[in-house]
Amino acid sequence: MIKKYIFGNPFPTHATVENAEICNHKLPYFKTDENGNFTLNLDENDIVYGLGEQIRGINKRGWKYVSWCSDNPDHHEDTHSLYGAHNFIIVSGKELFGAFFDYPGRLTFDIGYTKINEMSVHAERNNLAVYIITGENEKDITKQFRRLIGRSYIPPMWAFGYGQSRWGYQNEQDIRIVAEKYKEREIPLDSIYLDIDYMERYKDFTVDKNRFPDLEKLTADMKTQGIHLVPIIDAGIKIEEGYDVYEEGVKNNYFCKNENMEDFVGAVWPGRVHFPDFLNSDAREWFGGKYSALTELGIDGFWNDMNEPAIFYTDDRLADTLKKNDSLTSKNMGIDEYFIFTGMVAGLNGNVGDYDKFYHNVDGQMIKHSEVHNLYGMNMTRSAFEALQKIQPEKRTLFFSRASYIGAHRYGGVWQGDNKSWWSHILQSMQQLPALNMAGFLFTGADTGGFGCDTTEDLMLRWLQYSLFTPLFRNHAAAGTREQELYHFSTVEAMGEMIKIRYSLIPYLYSEFLKAALNDEMLFRPLSFDFANDEDSRNIEDQLLLGNELMITPIYKQNANGRYVYLPEEMMLVRMKKHDDFKTEILPKGHHYIPCKLNELIFFIRKDKAIAMCTPVDCTEKIDIGTAKLLGYQGSTYTLYKDDGISHDPKGSLEISVLKTVDI
Ligand code: NOJ
Repeated sequence: MIKKYIFGNPFPTHATVENAEICNHKLPYFKTDENGNFTLNLDENDIVYGLGEQIRGINKRGWKYVSWCSDNPDHHEDTHSLYGAHNFIIVSGKELFGAFFDYPGRLTFDIGYTKINEMSVHAERNNLAVYIITGENEKDITKQFRRLIGRSYIPPMWAFGYGQSRWGYQNEQDIRIVAEKYKEREIPLDSIYLDIDYMERYKDFTVDKNRFPDLEKLTADMKTQGIHLVPIIDAGIKIEEGYDVYEEGVKNNYFCKNENMEDFVGAVWPGRVHFPDFLNSDAREWFGGKYSALTELGIDGFWNDMNEPAIFYTDDRLADTLKKNDSLTSKNMGIDEYFIFTGMVAGLNGNVGDYDKFYHNVDGQMIKHSEVHNLYGMNMTRSAFEALQKIQPEKRTLFFSRASYIGAHRYGGVWQGDNKSWWSHILQSMQQLPALNMAGFLFTGADTGGFGCDTTEDLMLRWLQYSLFTPLFRNHAAAGTREQELYHFSTVEAMGEMIKIRYSLIPYLYSEFLKAALNDEMLFRPLSFDFANDEDSRNIEDQLLLGNELMITPIYKQNANGRYVYLPEEMMLVRMKKHDDFKTEILPKGHHYIPCKLNELIFFIRKDKAIAMCTPVDCTEKIDIGTAKLLGYQGSTYTLYKDDGISHDPKGSLEISVLKTVDI
């Protein structure tokens, strides 16, 4: 059951698509006040699940989280905000309920940080809707919530293939080399990503003609090899006379305004930019239409970046900083001045004060950005998604975004932002998956191998063994870091085998993804969601249930030749070096130490279940589900979902033909 409680005058976020019963009684569970505080005592054994893309564990107790979409490439354990703002939690223990705080500004979840047994949620302004959801168990509550917020985005099937990306591919030749080297090594590949360097001086919807003289031909050539090119689109529009997107935006008032009603100026990759006002429906439609500049060249997938929006500096703050620095440098700089100086310079990037300096035009009303900050990225992806439904209605387009709010899950996926080549970031990514699924984001994954820092060969192998289960499976790295295309490593063969295992699993992963999307369910779940009465399951933070058949148990520690695994019931251990070179063993419920060599993948099949595995091919287009064989318990069956992997159903539901596989 879902009840909606209204405080003050909430901004319409469009997070939900269904109406919930509005309740005029007191909000249950929480103590409330006039200042946007919601307080709850936590019992010793209560678990708090949720918050989507956030740091720390599956159980969120013990930290303070701030929902505030942030460009944070250096996130550590002490970070408070990441790229997404996903304000849905489930409290499970003495009481069991879900709570969604539909508030687009800064919202703080102090979950046992200030007081270990107290949770206190604070909205900067007391203008919000709170939804309380009760149900039989965590899965039931999540399903009701997911119905409320609408069906998750379903990408084309090719988006489940392996993708290679790097911020640093400079020209057409670099792209062709990646494709060739993967072919040479016989490693499957479905996409190559174009980062900002494909653009003419980082201007959205342009192509640098010197470095990419014929993008249309390149796209077509790649398609003949089964490879899709996926360009990046950034939020900021370069200020430059003669640049059509800039000129149209200025002319039609499509950009965010400062308090003097002039176009607000910030700086990102292209230098000084204006930010499209994605909360203005006309601007949204206009910007979305611009994607056709690339779809006309054969492009069918995009990633939307820097849409928190990230701001490196603003004109005013820069001028102010330079002025203050002048006064400092004119003196003999002492250590105090030195720290003021470095602090001011560092404080230019992502300064929260900048978000008070611009406004959105929402149906004629000017709304200060900081009050609706978390909706910006969502509306950028909405703009693209809605336009593409018109531009190419015959097929699904791949979209994923960096910033998001609940509701954005209807328009695209998210990647988990700028991680590092750190072992701890494998675990971090894994711990976010169930929480992201609770918030509706099914199409997601991390920058495999790590974005920042130099990766290592063993980290890459272990990361592949984890990511080969995530819907978005993309190897991406930052400029200046070690090259991490798989052919650079001496263990390329073992890495290639992991990619082939992914390809043999794609029909299974796609089926489970579709079942989850169409039934408003989670693809990845904590063990406790399925084994609610099992105490040990409630404490497991590094294993996940995947779909209805699997449990994944990645290795995320350096030099670990195995790991402890908890089985909440009897399961079948699969140990796999190649898709057709594996061993299975049935293990009883309980704690086990599972040795696992670096070139081995381990995972578990649940009791009396089986999964379909196909013969791997070099791209998703060639997958033949006729080759599907069952792997798992004797006598079990698997229901494989199949569609054409590309078209929308005009009625809003996909045509699915169900194939019942036969017994082993
Ligand atoms: C930040 C994004 O998070 C990253 O993935 C991208 O490579 C850089 N921007 C450059 O575009």
